[in-house]
Amino acid sequence: MSTNAKKDKKITVADIIAAKNQGRRLTMLTAYDAPVSALVDRCGVDMILVGDSLGMVVLGYDSTVPVTMDEMLHHARAAGRGRSRALLVGDMPFMSYQVGIRDAVINAGRFMKEADCDAVKLEGGLEVCEVVRAVTRAGIPVMGHVGLTPQTAGNLGGFKVQGRDLASAKKIIAEARALNEAGVFSLVLECVPGELARAVSAAISVPTIGIGAGVDCDGQVLVTQDLVGMFEKFTPSFVKKYAELAPLMKEAVSCFIKEVGQGVFPDREHSFSSGETLSGLLEDEDGDQSGG
Ligand code: KIV
Repeated sequence: MSTNAKKDKKITVADIIAAKNQGRRLTMLTAYDAPVSALVDRCGVDMILVGDSLGMVVLGYDSTVPVTMDEMLHHARAAGRGRSRALLVGDMPFMSYQVGIRDAVINAGRFMKEADCDAVKLEGGLEVCEVVRAVTRAGIPVMGHVGLTPQTAGNLGGFKVQGRDLASAKKIIAEARALNEAGVFSLVLECVPGELARAVSAAISVPTIGIGAGVDCDGQVLVTQDLVGMFEKFTPSFVKKYAELAPLMKEAVSCFIKEVGQGVFPDREHSFSSGETLSGLLEDEDGDQSGG
């Protein structure tokens, strides 16, 4: 096997679970289209999440609640075409798994059959354990998501850190244990104190993937548009911007507008020439116009 072939081996759910025992920290980033998916894949990220953050980051909604299955599948298919190596996780949108077990299994199956996903993610604690069991029994790996769960943030008092007091911290640990037992292969912990994330990571056998959950998780996830500084509407305090692409894009667009106005773009380098072939064209056309 060549070094490249080894490097390009597709990451499996078993690899994700094994990483915890190997002490290898996992990375997951979001992608909603083929170019970004290809880019983060080539950089070596372990998992690509087609998150329902799609709604806010790409589709311009105010929350993740309006996102539909069709919108998720459209973008998951695009992200699937971009990746070659990372595990592709489709995020189940609000109301695609809450109404009944049958709907949940069918919708999870659509991510696998129609969008080439390797797994699905869904939010919630004890109330979704039955769904997790049914979906995993159908042969579909499930990633859990506890702490701040954006689809139901209203019930949690808004976009706030969860598990700050002893009772709610214990509840999150109990939810994590129950999801572990129900069969999740990993668990997103969103917006919880670092000490709690550490306790959850020690309490369960599958990797925890933190977002705003401190350094002691088994892996970390960020929304790619946040990480590269492309999403300007708001930035959660736990986000580290590794680049500032929005100002660069604005500068490029402003230059384009200015140069078009000045007649500077396109210059010779960015235009086509026919050589001699069309040399008489201008004169003929001028002649035609003046001759009526
Ligand atoms: O939708 C999403 O992008 C997510 C991550 C932030 C974990 O759920």
